[in-house]
Amino acid sequence: WPVFSDDIDAILALKRERNAVILAHNYQTPEIFHCVADIVGDSLALARKAMTVEADVIVLAGVHFMAETAKLLNPGKTVLIPDMAAGCSLADSITPEDIRLLRQRYPGVPVVTYVNTSAAVKAESDICCTSGNAKAVVESLGVPRVLMLPDEYLAQNIAAQTDVEIIAWKGHCEVHERFTPADIRELREAHPGITVLAHPECPPEVVAEADFAGSTAAMSDYVGQKKPARVVLMTECSMSDNVAVDHSDVDFIRPCNLCPHMKRITLSNIRTALEKNRYAVTIDASVAVRARLAVERMLAV
Ligand code: 13P
Ligand code: SF4
Repeated sequence: WPVFSDDIDAILALKRERNAVILAHNYQTPEIFHCVADIVGDSLALARKAMTVEADVIVLAGVHFMAETAKLLNPGKTVLIPDMAAGCSLADSITPEDIRLLRQRYPGVPVVTYVNTSAAVKAESDICCTSGNAKAVVESLGVPRVLMLPDEYLAQNIAAQTDVEIIAWKGHCEVHERFTPADIRELREAHPGITVLAHPECPPEVVAEADFAGSTAAMSDYVGQKKPARVVLMTECSMSDNVAVDHSDVDFIRPCNLCPHMKRITLSNIRTALEKNRYAVTIDASVAVRARLAVERMLAV
C-alpha cells in the first residue's frame, strides 16, 4: 500500500498517542479495514464490541448512526466520526414525529427500529435490531404484530421467516434497492454454478433468487465456512474486496454498488480526526437515555 503509507504510519502513531481505537464497518475500503482498524464487523458486532472498548477515544470508520450508537453505549468516551456528512438513506427516511404518529395509528403495537436510524428515532422506539438479529428481536417480544421501521425490504424479508405480522415503513437502502432478480439471472448465466449471497436490505424478489441472505458478517462467515468456488455478494463494493483478502481460493465476481456515505471516510480524514479531535459525536441527554435503552434491549436478546 505504498500510496497510503504516510497516512497509515501517522494513524498508527496517533492511535498510540491518543489511546484511540478505530472501529470499521465491513463496507470500509481495504486500506482502512485491513491496515488501521482495530475492530471490524457488521453493525451488530460494532455495537457489541463498542461496549468493551477501554481506549479513551473511538474513531468510527462508518456512517453517522454507527458513531451515535457507539456514543450511546460509551457516553463517557470521545467518539469521533471523520466526516459528519456520512449519512444513510434509511436513517434519512424516518423522523421521531413519524414514529409518534405511527403509535397513534397502531396503539399498543411495539416499535422495532433498525439501527440504521438517528438516536432521536431510536429514542421513540421500544427496541432496536440489525440485519443480523432482526428475526430474533421480533420474536423475542412475544406479540402477534410489530412495527418494523424503516427498511421496507428488511421488514418484508423477515416477515417471510416468521409468524409475527410485520407492519413496514417505506424506507430503502440506496445501495441495495438497486439490485434486481435480472442481475442474478445474468450472473448465473455468465458464471454457471456461482453462489449468490444477498444482503436482506435487497428487495425480497432478489433475496428469493439468492442462495443465502444475511448481514455482512453472515455473508463473510458463509464464504469462510462453505468455501464456494465462485461467489458474488449482492451488496456494497468494499465487502468483496475485504473478504477476498482472506480467501484467495475463492473466485469473487464483483458487480456491486458503492455507498457514497461509507466512501466519505478515508485514511486522510481518519488521520485529521485524530489530529484535530473532530468530529466529536454528541447526543442530547434526554434523547440519549431513551435511545440507549432501545439499543441495550436489543443487545440483551
Ligand atoms: P450490516 O453490516 O449490519 O449487515 O449492515 C449493512 C449496512 O448496510 C450498514 O449500513
Ligand atoms: Fe445506509 Fe445503505 Fe449506505 Fe448502509 S449501505 S449506510 S444502509 S445507504
